[in-house]
Order: sequence, then structure tokens, then C-alpha cells
Amino acid sequence: MPIYTNQIYSRVLSSGSTPTLIVLTVGVLFIFAVSGLIDAIRAQILTAFGVIFDQRVSGHIFSALFDGVVRRQAQAGSQALRDLDQFRQTMTGPGISVVFDLPWIPIYMAILFFIDPIIGLVTFLGGMTLVGLAFLQDRATRPLTKAANSAAIKSYGFTEAGLRNSEVVRAMGMIGYLGRQWGKFRAESLTNAKSSNEQAEIWGGLIKFVRMAVQILIIAIGADLILNHKIGSGMLFANMILSARALQPIDRVVGTWTSLIGASQAYERLSGLLNNYTPSTVGTSLPRPKGELTVENMNYGVPGSGRLLLAAVNFRIAPGEFLGIVGPSGAGKSTLARLLVGVQQPLNGSVRLDGSDVFGWSRAEFGQYVGYLPQDTELFAGSVRDNIARFMDGVTDEEVIAAAQAASVHELIVRLPNGYDTELGQGGVVLSVGQRQRVGLARAMLRNPALIVLDEPNANLDSQGEDALLEALAAMKARAQTVVVVSHKPSMLVGADKLLVLRDGRVDLFGPREAVLSRLAQNAAKAKGSTPSAAAIEAKS
Ligand SMILES: Nc1ncnc2c1ncn2[C@@H]1O[C@H](COP(=O)(O)OP(=O)(O)OP(=O)(O)O)[C@@H](O)[C@H]1O
Ligand SMILES: [Mg+2]
Repeated sequence: MPIYTNQIYSRVLSSGSTPTLIVLTVGVLFIFAVSGLIDAIRAQILTAFGVIFDQRVSGHIFSALFDGVVRRQAQAGSQALRDLDQFRQTMTGPGISVVFDLPWIPIYMAILFFIDPIIGLVTFLGGMTLVGLAFLQDRATRPLTKAANSAAIKSYGFTEAGLRNSEVVRAMGMIGYLGRQWGKFRAESLTNAKSSNEQAEIWGGLIKFVRMAVQILIIAIGADLILNHKIGSGMLFANMILSARALQPIDRVVGTWTSLIGASQAYERLSGLLNNYTPSTVGTSLPRPKGELTVENMNYGVPGSGRLLLAAVNFRIAPGEFLGIVGPSGAGKSTLARLLVGVQQPLNGSVRLDGSDVFGWSRAEFGQYVGYLPQDTELFAGSVRDNIARFMDGVTDEEVIAAAQAASVHELIVRLPNGYDTELGQGGVVLSVGQRQRVGLARAMLRNPALIVLDEPNANLDSQGEDALLEALAAMKARAQTVVVVSHKPSMLVGADKLLVLRDGRVDLFGPREAVLSRLAQNAAKAKGSTPSAAAIEAKS
């Protein structure tokens, strides 16, 4: 554009040649058409890049998210997926095109220096001032933006937790109090965002003023140069446009700064999540284990807490054996169950299935050989069949039904509105806690895994459900599957080969069922017997 204007002045107006005007105009139109086309292609490439980027990264982040939640990592949460969206949108949106304009600044400046050193110098100094102001603006707004964003994330997280427990909230009239807590986060976010915007407005105004001042100076200097016959009048326009071009990218970067900062913070959170995530390696495939479970000198505590939840746990069960784990509430039974199926990593020591470390095992492969029923069974949105089939491909109807029958839940399922195809979850049928637990048992039994770990499987069952469970346990034993059952109820563990008594994270007793039961009875008798004797001693004294 500056070259065109200059040429019109110096060649067309002075010579009065219409053909020159036509050639110049057609040439410039052609250049702008090409430039527009390139812009459109650039936008398309960026969008396509965004899609490819998402496809490559999102799956990884989805897995890292689960991993992070299990390890209770701070960055883990659905926020990570929002972060990914924000980062992708900024990196492939119009904001990023500003960055492509930055390399042109020195080129425009060089041309201006070439036209006239004074004009070049003024633009250069103006540009430096703008960069300095932009830096100060960043210093003033960045901490505020950061605080606003993290408070907003807290308020979203709080809402999510509140919604998950909406029944508790409603039953006990907690909404007002929860709303107050939520409002605190919300207000913190808004106040910080407001101050950040105010700061941005003030600095933005200053930046705009400096830019205008530089451009006015350039025109004034240009006019002075014309008066002194140092440059032609066409050059004045060229100078104006070139200096505007040279300074514009700085202005635009300042304008999109907030979203660039947001994207960089999203990037930081995502890196924090991904740096701690090692995708489970797909190593050499191991053969189907027979089910020998060994726990060696295992300690476990929540990383960084310094408190051991399980200490020096040692035991071994042979393939096909049935181990019952008992112990008071909070003894660490569920924690032990989670470690047995490789959900968490021991601080030291190991859990091995047929000699291979369960935590290091590729999750997808290990998953085929293990069935796990947690204490609070949640099912996923999808059909009953999908849930029992664990959403895997290639599971036949026969296998699903066999698992349901093995868990004695087939009759229950066929009585549901759509049988196996009944949709669960949002908008579908809601199963009762006991029903969920029984479908969860079928999910654990799919394809007869070598190791089955059940955490209080009878917690919500009626006597009929308990009978079904006992039958299922007997069938597992008949199929020589290794079974670990955590339970408070002695009746659940009648078929157990071994018993493990856990107390305060330590193995109190371990051995054949009969031996452990008689030791427990002895201990109980001793505890009873010791009370009167202690009283007698006291009485004597
Ligand atoms: N994520 C966690 N962070 C910190 N401590 C935890 C965590 N999970 C469990 N604990 C602690 O570990 C201890 C054992 O918990 P666990 O759930 O294993 O007990 P449990 O024996 O299964 O009890 P219950 O019979 O009530 O199910 C408890 O003191 C609990 O506070
Ligand atoms: Mg438990």
C-alpha cells in the first residue's frame, strides 16, 4: 500500500499517464488477491493443525487425567480438558496470527531508516516505548489474571462437587451455606478480573496515546522534510503507512495479551499434569497368570503425606485360593485392595501376580486378567451390557451373559425395562445401590479373570443377594480363580482358605482360616479374662 501510494504520487500524478495508473492498479489488486488467499489458507492450516493437535494430545491427557486423579495430583480434574481447549483455541485462532506479524517489524523499520534516519529512529524509539509499556502492563495485570483464573477454577470445582452431592445438600438444607462458600470464590475471581481489566485499560490508554504520538511526529517530520525538499510528497504517505505497520503488531499483541497469558497458564497446568504421567508401557505380553499373589514388604502412604497407611505387609496366596480380609473401619482394607489390583504404587516393596509387578503391568493387558469391585460401585452412562463388557470391543453376548450368570445377576437384569440393553446413567434407568453392586460384580467376573478382588461386595445386599454372592464365590473357587474378599461379615468368608486380619495398616494375623479364627477367639477370651484380673489387682492395691 505505501509503495502504491508513493508511485501514484511520483509517477502517475507527475506524468499524467493513465496506462501507468492502470498497470500499477492491476498489479496491486493482484498482490492483494494473493495476500487474501494466503491469509485464508493460513487460517485453514491453523484450524486443521488444531484438529490434528487435539487428536494427538487429547487421548493422552484423558489417560493422564485418570492417572492424576488416582494419584490425587493437584492439576488433575476436568479442568485439564478445558485447559486443552483454551490452549488449542488460542494457538490456532486469530490471536496467534499476530505472532506471524512480529518478524515484519524490523523489516518495516529498516525501510523507514532507509527513507530517512530520523523517521526510522523516531519509529524505533516509539516501538521500544510501546514494548516497555506492554511489559509494565503485563507486570501489573498478570498476577491479577492468574488469581482470577485460579479462583474461577475453584468455583467450578466446588460446583461440580456440590452437584455430585446434590441430595445431601437438599436434604439438609445446605444450599445457602454452600452458596456462600461458592460466592467467595466467585467474588474473588470477579474482583481480581475487574482490577486486572482496570489496569489493562489504564496501560492500554497510555499505549494508544504513545502510538498516536509517534505517528503524528512522523507526519510532522515528513512535512518538514517536504518543506525542505528532502523527500517528495508521496513519501509522506509511505512513511505514515509504514510506521503504522511497524507499530501495529505491538499494539495487537498487547490487545490479545490476556488470551495469550491464559493459554500459557493452561499450558503450564497441562505440562504439570503430563510431566508426572508415564503412559503404561506396552511391553512384552505376559501369558495369562495362574493367580499366585505375593505381597512383599510393602509400605504404602499417600505420596508426600509422610503417614503410612499400610506398613510391612507380607503374605502369599496360591493360585485358586480364597483370601478373606477383615479388620476394623479405617484399618486400610480398601487401600490394600486397591494396591492388589495395581491402582496405586507401593512406596516400597511390591505386589506381584505370578511374579510380575502389578503396578508396572500394562493396564489394558492386566485388566483382562483381573476383576475388581470397589466399595462404592459406580456404573458408567451406557447400557447394562456395555457396563458388564467394560466398554470393550469384541465381547460377545455369550460372554456378557456368562459373567452375569456367574454373578447371579442375570435374573435381575432380564427384569429391567430393556433387559441387557437398558440404558443407565443420565436420562436412563437409575439402579439401586445393591443392584449396582451386583452388576459391578458381573463386570468384575467378565471372561473369568485369574484374580478377583471384591471390596465389601455384600455391603448393600439383601439375604437373597448374599446367597447369590456366596454361590458366585463358590463357583469362582470351583474355577480355581484367586479371590480376595474384604468383608465385615463372617458369613461371607466361610469358604475362605486364608484369613488376613488388618489393624492400623499392619497385618495382625494371617494364615489358614481355622487357625486365624481360633487365635481371634483366644485373643477375645484373653481380653475378657484380663479385665477382672486387672480389676482384682486394683482392688488389692
Ligand atoms: N486418599 C486418601 N488420602 C489420605 N488418607 C486416606 C486416603 N484414602 C484412605 N485414607 C486413609 O487410609 C486409612 C484406611 O482407609 P481404608 O479406606 O483403606 O479403610 P478400610 O479398612 O477400607 O475401612 P472401611 O471398613 O471403613 O472401608 C484411613 O485412615 C483413611 O483416612
Ligand atoms: Mg473400605
